[in-house]
Amino acid sequence: MEGEGVARVDGMVVFVPLCMQGEKVRVMVREVNKKFARATVIKVLEASEDRIYPLCPIFYRCGCCDMQHIRYDKQKEIKKANVKACLYKALGRDVEVDEVRGDGVIFGYRNKIQVPLAMQGGEVVAGYYKGNTHTVVPFGERVREDLGACVMYERGMQDMLDAFLGYANALALDCYDERSGKGFLRHFVARRVGDKYAVVVVGNGKKLPAEKKLISALTDTGKKFSLYFDSNTKKTNVIMSSDIKVVCGEERLEADVLGVRAKVSPLSFMQINDGVRDMIYTAVADAVKEKGFGAVVDAYSGAGVLTNVLAKSAREVYGIEIVSEAVADADKLTVACGNTGKVRNICGDCAKELPLLAARLREDGKDFAVVLDPPRKGCDERVLDAIKKASPDFVCYVSCNPATLARDLARLDERYEIKSVTPYDMFPQTKHVETLICLERK
Ligand SMILES: C[S@@+](CC[C@H](N)C(=O)[O-])C[C@H]1O[C@@H](n2cnc3c(N)ncnc32)[C@H](O)[C@@H]1O
Repeated sequence: MEGEGVARVDGMVVFVPLCMQGEKVRVMVREVNKKFARATVIKVLEASEDRIYPLCPIFYRCGCCDMQHIRYDKQKEIKKANVKACLYKALGRDVEVDEVRGDGVIFGYRNKIQVPLAMQGGEVVAGYYKGNTHTVVPFGERVREDLGACVMYERGMQDMLDAFLGYANALALDCYDERSGKGFLRHFVARRVGDKYAVVVVGNGKKLPAEKKLISALTDTGKKFSLYFDSNTKKTNVIMSSDIKVVCGEERLEADVLGVRAKVSPLSFMQINDGVRDMIYTAVADAVKEKGFGAVVDAYSGAGVLTNVLAKSAREVYGIEIVSEAVADADKLTVACGNTGKVRNICGDCAKELPLLAARLREDGKDFAVVLDPPRKGCDERVLDAIKKASPDFVCYVSCNPATLARDLARLDERYEIKSVTPYDMFPQTKHVETLICLERK
């Protein structure tokens, strides 16, 4: 369903990643559970006509993306079918789903790289974890001038990473070992914001050694950048702690999103694909504008970019976000956009804040819309119950996980009618898909 093959052996379901429907393959079974097994392809005996050569030379070894072996049009078909199947499973009926939309950029679309660092052959290397392991697969050679060694991100990010690796190896820095909790370098993170780069080194220590050497190496790339050090000394899977300091440059970098000039810190959530993000924000803003609501609640609002885009066409907008750094960014953005008095950024858990706010707007007799853009796990039940109770006229749900989206819609189904379901290809070459659903109160 998510671009992997599914076989049956004596009634048991066997999932086979990197294999396509209709193919004949030889596999090795790797894992057998009570209800299903997992297998890896050893040889493709009869290939699907939609199978292509992946652009990335280490695609079959690296765990970063899962669809590069599939013709792009077919990738979109698979994603649409996945959204449809999730809705069918949760709602028990067929729902019309639009064609998957995208901006045509299918490689080099990521504006952010976030990679673990590891020692291999006495050197610091960067790469992604091999699927279901914590073994780093180092990036291979670049295959296209405009792309990074990982073809998901653009060339500029590679220049930053190369400069960093040169510095780390010249200084013979060591890498963090998850088992012993010893060693220094943990992750390299870089994000392009406008024409600048926010570079973050995450280390198990208090200070970045020989800062000037890294500043000099990054300066040699000819790119504009700010450098940060994130001190993460905990035994945890969380990549960045909130103990982050500016080594050089600005605390926040400025991005222009649909005319909203947002200053974002490295800890703020930002969508990773600028082009498709703009398409989705425009679709949400247009849908809300068309209905002309007095108030809009932007739940799970991040750094408040969409909140301020929505403020162009609503009288009052409320953002609700749990990360205080992101809310601080949102507050600054609201002032910079001249939306003080119109936009209120609430710092807190949507499960607690949205029920209070929705009840108040309903009591005040305001017609209002709610925009939901939760993380992968979807909305808390209390958020959905509050929506059912306060019954806003219109709900736009943006989701990066069709399964939790469908589960949440089932909870709203008796009260809301689905007006449109539009998948967006925010993450080409991977199984992931972003979906925008518009709901109207019945
Ligand atoms: C998918 S992002 C969307 C952000 C924003 N709408 C955007 O487009 O940039 C989800 C956001 O929800 C926030 N979040 C996660 N759990 C939350 C909760 N329980 N209450 C409020 N915000 C939460 C995250 O910090 C993150 O900023």
